Amino acid sequence: MTQLKNKHFVLGLTGGIACYKAAELCRALMKDGASVQVVMSEGATQFITPVTMQALSGRPVFLSQWDARESNNMAHINLTREADAILIAPASAEFVAKLLHGRADDLLSLMCLARPIDKVPLIVAPAMNKEMWGNPATQRNMVQLKHDGAHVLDVGAGDQACGEVGDGRMLEPEQILEALKAHFTEKLLEGRRVLITAGPTYEAIDPVRGITNLSSGKMGFALARACSRAGAQVTLISGPVSLETPVGVERIGVISAQQMYEATQERVQNADIFIAAAAVADWRVHLAGEQKIKKGKDRTVPQLELVENPDILKTVASSPRALTQELYCVGFAAESENLEELATAKRVSKGVPLLIANVGPQTFGLDENALLLVDESGTRELPWASKDALSDELVKEIATRISRA
Ligand code: C5P
Repeated sequence: MTQLKNKHFVLGLTGGIACYKAAELCRALMKDGASVQVVMSEGATQFITPVTMQALSGRPVFLSQWDARESNNMAHINLTREADAILIAPASAEFVAKLLHGRADDLLSLMCLARPIDKVPLIVAPAMNKEMWGNPATQRNMVQLKHDGAHVLDVGAGDQACGEVGDGRMLEPEQILEALKAHFTEKLLEGRRVLITAGPTYEAIDPVRGITNLSSGKMGFALARACSRAGAQVTLISGPVSLETPVGVERIGVISAQQMYEATQERVQNADIFIAAAAVADWRVHLAGEQKIKKGKDRTVPQLELVENPDILKTVASSPRALTQELYCVGFAAESENLEELATAKRVSKGVPLLIANVGPQTFGLDENALLLVDESGTRELPWASKDALSDELVKEIATRISRA
């Protein structure tokens, strides 16, 4: 179950080219089990039609405070009373200026003003040209809007529809969705610093070849998002994967196990929780070729000498802070058989209080997984579910254990 299941949103669109992203956002909300009531300003209808938004949300769109479809003619009251939040995406500079002056000359602004302020949060995703965004008036308005209790999301940077480059783009629908999930997540890891390793490592044989594995990094990235949603400050040390960096998460990119080991050692002193989700190569090539190894005329096969990589988890778990549980360590085990037996033994050999086992070949590359949690008191199964949902469950398990430690 996601944080957005059965939540009801009023999605307000104001005039801006980013209206096209609001269509995607509406779909994504519905896909996550939320219901959406769209309200559009007149400006928004210049960019996208109410027909599109009605088709995507499955509800008639409201445009005017004089809409006679509501029997009491009070759409500005009725629409928000059952809402879990009002989300303005995109929020134009003009609309933000209107909001903070308490103006109410169209349905959307009227509805925001008339919302029960303690019950219905107002979440705002600004979208505008970089000069408009940087203008002191806009920045002053944003400060005031936050002060008045609205949740103002970040803006993205990059190419803008006008051809200029800079800050002010509306966040991508996926990022807004993540921010909404965070909004509705209990802050079980507030103030905690979490260090996570994720993905495969790549051990060079020569400059064009290497040894790696099938880990996609999806479980580690899902964990990073879940910890961040739960209020933690997250650092993610990732091997070579092409996944998006979760918003608000610091990402350190590494290639080899040795680099992952060094990056972890540098940062683990500042962590309260260490989660080793990476599939670290056990061995590396002793002397990787400086140039591409060529096939010889006599077709002799090169003999690779392998040496063992440092065990990152084991090293961290045996450090003084881990032994006193000032640093809480969580390991993973990807097995292909005898999950319970192998995971129980691995937990002891790694010296961690909690080990999470999964059947590697069954989940590599997928968005779903099934987990077996192993600690000193026994095991608990988390059945097949999305890696996001499983990560939320793991956050709860970890939070309970560290509050006891
Ligand atoms: O020994 P094995 O690779 O099965 O152990 C898996 C666990 O140990 C995972 O948590 C993985 O991230 C961690 N590990 C590590 N450094 C290694 C090998 C594994 O941190 N060199």
